[in-house]
Amino acid sequence: MLLQTYIFLQTNIGKDIPLPLPIPEWLLVVLLIVSFLVHILFINLMFGGTLLCLFFEALGIKNDDYRRLSQEISSTITVNKSLAIVMGVAPLLIINTLYTKFFYSANALTGLVWIMVIPLVTIALLVLYLHKYTYDKLANNRPLHVALLTLPTAVFLFIPLVFLTNINLMLFPDRWSVVGGFLDALSLPNVFPRYFHFINASLTVTSLFLFYWISRKDFNFSEKFKEYSLYDFQKRFYSIAFACSIAQFLFGPIVIFTLPSQGLGMDMLFTILSGATIAFVPTYYLWKEITSSAEQIGRYFNRIAVLLGIVVVFMGTGRHLYRANALSPHRLAMQKNTEEYMKQVEEAKKNPAKTEVLAEVSGKSIFDTKCSVCHAKDKKLVGPPVTEMIEIYKTNPQGLAEWIKKPGKKREGYPQMPGFEGQLNDKDLYLLVKYVLEGK
Ligand code: HEC
Repeated sequence: MLLQTYIFLQTNIGKDIPLPLPIPEWLLVVLLIVSFLVHILFINLMFGGTLLCLFFEALGIKNDDYRRLSQEISSTITVNKSLAIVMGVAPLLIINTLYTKFFYSANALTGLVWIMVIPLVTIALLVLYLHKYTYDKLANNRPLHVALLTLPTAVFLFIPLVFLTNINLMLFPDRWSVVGGFLDALSLPNVFPRYFHFINASLTVTSLFLFYWISRKDFNFSEKFKEYSLYDFQKRFYSIAFACSIAQFLFGPIVIFTLPSQGLGMDMLFTILSGATIAFVPTYYLWKEITSSAEQIGRYFNRIAVLLGIVVVFMGTGRHLYRANALSPHRLAMQKNTEEYMKQVEEAKKNPAKTEVLAEVSGKSIFDTKCSVCHAKDKKLVGPPVTEMIEIYKTNPQGLAEWIKKPGKKREGYPQMPGFEGQLNDKDLYLLVKYVLEGK
């Protein structure tokens, strides 16, 4: 009960839209996890591809093979980009359906930057195409061609921050009233650890994908590259994947330790730790691959890919469990508010006259009837003025609610204030506290 009141006071979530879900909730959750993982796979390939493309093209200013490699990578990025965007529609729609109020509120609070994602991505993609189709035209001005790629890279480095900030902010309704826009929300704990975790994952996934890409029979490696052998590049991609996997064992715990504790449950920790334990196996095989000969390299590739796929499913599920845990008290409070609202709607239908009375209950009217005999706005009556209450409780609405229910004895020379426990329901208490602290 106390927790409920607390949440009710802190979140401003109010009631849900009283509409049924189109399919059972568990099915939506499964679809959300699966479709999100497919989407993020292609996002990883697009993002990691761009980073590696830039990296190898920079090396390619002085070396034809590296430039050639970056051109091959660039041809994969635009395809992966299209898949990433198309595959993003399903999880976006599902999250809107399941977490409507949470998601929209976070969207609104990061409004300007959130909407900027669309023009920014559009420009980045156009420049990406320009870059892709000017490898030959700008062959004699390589630095300029590299410079062209820095713009989409910068945008792609920024966009995940916007998404992470948004999806993170949605988990903390209690912060909504104090967050003042994107930059503020960006500094909530956990955004940056998750960001680096994501970049790292992108590089791992993309390196493995590129290993597969250049190892295909119809890739005709030896016709395209002069100086380096297929084995050289295979080892290079495996090494990147290996280094990033190792780094992931470092970032992973940081992500968990910076997660606000409200969503940490045994179920979630167990899932994430299982995933992390399994992750040692593909990392071990990666090491075996890096140290194997040109004839043998690639024999564990499928095993590594499948095992990493399993790890990703565990991580994706843990990620969802965290969200479910973090939001469950808020969703409960919201459900309660919705039920109360529906009850009022029913009553209003039966007895229209009564609703007018209901609707008129406001923080001010409660204050006027219950408090104003002893408290005035800015002068002392029997008790201290409202300005003093604001001083004491402006960051602690819960404390004020507690005081009203069960006042203590504080000031010398003042009588005891009567308690209002049992006289005010949660809703009235909320309205009153809001009125005292905000004047409306
Ligand atoms: C019968 C008079 C009376 C009524 C009615 C009354 N109060 Fe008080 N109130 C007092 C007195 C006296 C004090 C000072 C008590 C003390 O400091 O020990 C006080 C103190 C307070 C404080 C200061 C708490 C603190 O931590 O210092 C707040 C806040 C407050 N009242 C809010 C309210 C609200 C809201 C209502 C209406 C629901 C209300 N009071 C109704 C007499 C009253």
